[in-house]
Amino acid sequence: MRYIKDHENLEGKIVLLRLDLNVPLKNRVITDETRINKILPVINLLIKKKSKILIVSHVGRPKGKINNDLSLKPICENLEAKTSQKIKLIKDDIYKINKDDLFKNSKDKIIFLENIRFYKEEENNDANFSKNLAELADIFVNDAFSCSHRAHASVSKITEFLPSFAGLQLENEISALKKVTTEIKKPVTCIVGGSKISTKIGLIRNLIPKFDNIIIVGAMANNILNHKGNPIGKSIKEDNCETAINEIFKIAKKYSCSINYPEDVVVGKNMDDRAVIKENCEVANDDLILDIGPKTIKKIKDIIERSKTILWNGPAGYFENPNFAKGCYEITKKIIEKNEKNQIYSIAGGGDTIAVLNQMNALGNFNFVSTAGGAFLEYLEGKDLPGIKALN
Ligand code: 3PG
Repeated sequence: MRYIKDHENLEGKIVLLRLDLNVPLKNRVITDETRINKILPVINLLIKKKSKILIVSHVGRPKGKINNDLSLKPICENLEAKTSQKIKLIKDDIYKINKDDLFKNSKDKIIFLENIRFYKEEENNDANFSKNLAELADIFVNDAFSCSHRAHASVSKITEFLPSFAGLQLENEISALKKVTTEIKKPVTCIVGGSKISTKIGLIRNLIPKFDNIIIVGAMANNILNHKGNPIGKSIKEDNCETAINEIFKIAKKYSCSINYPEDVVVGKNMDDRAVIKENCEVANDDLILDIGPKTIKKIKDIIERSKTILWNGPAGYFENPNFAKGCYEITKKIIEKNEKNQIYSIAGGGDTIAVLNQMNALGNFNFVSTAGGAFLEYLEGKDLPGIKALN
């Protein structure tokens, strides 16, 4: 893989920079800027190297149709304020843009193309579309690790038409994830939460042989509690995951990996309720399990205390209601405590986990926070990511 930081001759070159600026938007207003903040270093680097930056990104899933609610305009304005640069957003049809017209005004340093997913060719990884896109630039840089699991035109196919390089954020993501895969410091623990066990089964299966402890929390733990014969009331549960759960325990036994799940829980009658701590066997028919209980928190803290590497993906409870955020908060606090003493290497990833850390103002207290969701999981599952493969 070639890295853009090592490129010595970028002066005057047009760099087609693929970013993942897929930030949450509510009525065209950005509600979380983490992904924008994370790509500022590559913009600064390219400006320093005197290149012209042509940004390509998607936001949302417009499915090949123009949708003004999914315009990159608010993101472009946000970046404009953050970089103190005038940034032009070009809405013209990509097939009609002429490379020579792009940076005609010598003051223009950064130009945005409109949401690349307005073109159906993007998700089809279309060769002709990629070629047209490539003709607008001299060099391609992928700094969008979080969409590198997509075989899309501006992520994958484009590399066949331009000299291609890895950006700074992509490089950071991969080197951090390598630390919990190939360059592991043991004991190593993974805390996996969130709502759907089926989406993380591949991850758990792949991590068991390398990890010492897997801690399953959040709504996905309900499936295990239920599998072990505990009542779970009205709590979220997935159908047809019995085989997957049996498999987890079977592989874990083979590799001596300890699988941990809640020993007690916190329930409410609805999501806005107050918290009531219960033993697993006490959950009533009309209860919703919304957080882990104090015994479970203590056990998790003890495991973190003994760990040298920790990976966290998916919240422990319904943290949006502070009454059910204690599990997440205590896990975060314990990891930070170990981090401050330099006793652990910590990685967190996934949109909800980032939201928890943002809520606690703790983004800077982890060794690495991945902005990727699906790509983070697929990388850890051991899958080949098309965007990364293409760069290699
Ligand atoms: C993400 O948010 O994980 C990436 O931008 C990919 O988005 P997608 O799941 O819509 O392909």
